[in-house]
Amino acid sequence: MYVKNILCVIFETQPFTMQHLKPIIEQNKQRYIDELIELLKIPSVSADPAYREDVFKTAEKIKEKFISIGLDNAQCIETPGYPVAYAEKIIDASKPTVLVYGHYDVQPADPIELWDSPPFEPVIKNEKIYARGAADDKGQMYMHVLAVQNMLENNCLPCNVKFLIEGEEEVGSDNLEGFVKKHKELLKADVILISDTAIIDNENPSITVGLRGLSYVEVEVTGPNRDLHSGVYGGAVANPINVLSKMISSMFDENNHITIPGFYDDVQELSATERASLAEAPFNEEAYKEELQIEAVYGEKGYETRERCSIRPTLDVNGMWGGYIGEGAKTVLPSKAYAKISMRLVPNQSSDKITELFTKHFESIAPKGVKVKVKPHHGGEPLVVPTDFDAYKAAEMAMQQTFGKKPVPERGGGSIPIVALFEKELGLKSILMGFGLDTDDIHSPNEHYGIFNYLKGIETIPYFYQYYAEMKA
Ligand code: BES
Ligand code: MN
Ligand code: MN
Repeated sequence: MYVKNILCVIFETQPFTMQHLKPIIEQNKQRYIDELIELLKIPSVSADPAYREDVFKTAEKIKEKFISIGLDNAQCIETPGYPVAYAEKIIDASKPTVLVYGHYDVQPADPIELWDSPPFEPVIKNEKIYARGAADDKGQMYMHVLAVQNMLENNCLPCNVKFLIEGEEEVGSDNLEGFVKKHKELLKADVILISDTAIIDNENPSITVGLRGLSYVEVEVTGPNRDLHSGVYGGAVANPINVLSKMISSMFDENNHITIPGFYDDVQELSATERASLAEAPFNEEAYKEELQIEAVYGEKGYETRERCSIRPTLDVNGMWGGYIGEGAKTVLPSKAYAKISMRLVPNQSSDKITELFTKHFESIAPKGVKVKVKPHHGGEPLVVPTDFDAYKAAEMAMQQTFGKKPVPERGGGSIPIVALFEKELGLKSILMGFGLDTDDIHSPNEHYGIFNYLKGIETIPYFYQYYAEMKA
C-alpha cells in the first residue's frame, strides 16, 4: 500500500515509465514463485487422457486468476478438445491491442525415473524451479499474467490486452484452428505476443524470428503374420525391425542430406549476407558439446551447428519399437516394427506436401516381404518474423531496457504450429519474446526455469506494452 501511494506521487510528477514496477517485482518475488508452483503442481499433460481432469482444472485455475486480477470477460471457452482460457482488458478502443498467446498444457513427464525430483512436485534448486512445464510454457505464460496484474494494480496498462491460453499446444493445437476461425472478432488485435521460446543466454538476449514447421508421421512395418522363433525362421523371412532400420538409414546420404525425392525443392536458401548476420549471435561450439557430453557435432554437410537446427529441415526418429524389449533376452523374429518420425520444416516447405512426399517415398523403398503403413500425425507450417516493424522494435527496446543489451534476432528450431495460422487467419504477426534457455530441458527429465528468467520476463513485458503503445499513438 505504502509503495503504491509513493508511486502515485511519482506518476504525477514525473513522466511515466515502467521503471516504477521494478521494486514491486522485487517485493513480490516470493509470491510469484509460490503462485507458479501451485500451477505446476497440476499435471496438465494433454497427450495422456489419464490427466484429462487436471487439464481442465488448470484452465479453470487460470481463469480464476484472470478474474482475481481484474480482467474482464474471463472464461474457459470450450473446444472439441481442451478449453481455451480467455480474458481481456479493453481500456480504450482507440488504443492498440496486444493478444497474448501461451499454453497451459505440458509434455508427458516420462521417463519419470530419470527425474531427480517428482515432475509435479516443484522444487527450487540453484535458483531454478524444477517441474514439468516450468519453462514450457506455464512459467513463461504466467509472466504475462503477472506483468499485466502489475500494470493494472499500478494504473499503468498503456493499451488493451487479450489472453488466449490454450491446452493443446503439445499435441499439435488441432482444435485451435477451428477456434481461431470461429472467434475472429473476439481475437481482434494488433499484434500477438508470445513467450514460449528461448534467449541465447542470460547475458545475451535474443528475439526468435523464425520457427520451423513440422510433419510428424508414424510408420508401421509388418513382416510375417506373427512373431516367430528367430532361430527357426531367422535368415529366411524379412525381419521388420531390420528392414525399418535400413529404410530409415537410406533416407540420408553420406553428407547427411535427406534423400526423399523433392524434399528440398521448396526450401528457401538463405543468402550469404543473411547467413553471416545469423552467425553474429554468440555461440560456443565447445561449450555446446561439453554441455551435451558429446565429442562431436553431427549433421548436414555445408552448414554450421546453429544453421542445422534452425534454417535447415531435418528428419528424426523420435521413437522406435517392436519385438522384445523386456528384461533379459528372448529370441524372436518380430511380426511388426514401428517408428515415430518428425520432419522439421523451413520456410517455404509445406507440411502436407512433405508428409505426402515422405509417404510415397517410404512406400516405394519397402522391400518385398513386408507391408508398410504411414499414419500422419499433426503438422505445422514454418514461419519467419520480420524485424522491420513496430512491434519488433518495441520488443527490442524492451529487452534492451531490462538486459542492458540489444537483443539479436535468432531463428528457432522448434515449432509452435498455431503461429503461422494466426498470421493466415487473423492477419497478425507474432512477437516471439521468450525468456527460456535452450538448456532448460523442456520435454526432458528435470525441466526447469531460472528465477532470473522468470523475473526478467515479468519486468520486461510491461516495457513492450509501453513502447508499443507509444509507437502506435
Ligand atoms: N515451446 C515449444 C516450441 C519451442 C521451443 C520453440 C524452443 C522454439 C524453441 C513448444 O511447446 C513445442 O514443444 N512445440 C512442439 C510442437 C508440437 C506440434 C508438439 C515442438 O516443437 O516439438
Ligand atoms: Mn511451448
Ligand atoms: Mn513444448
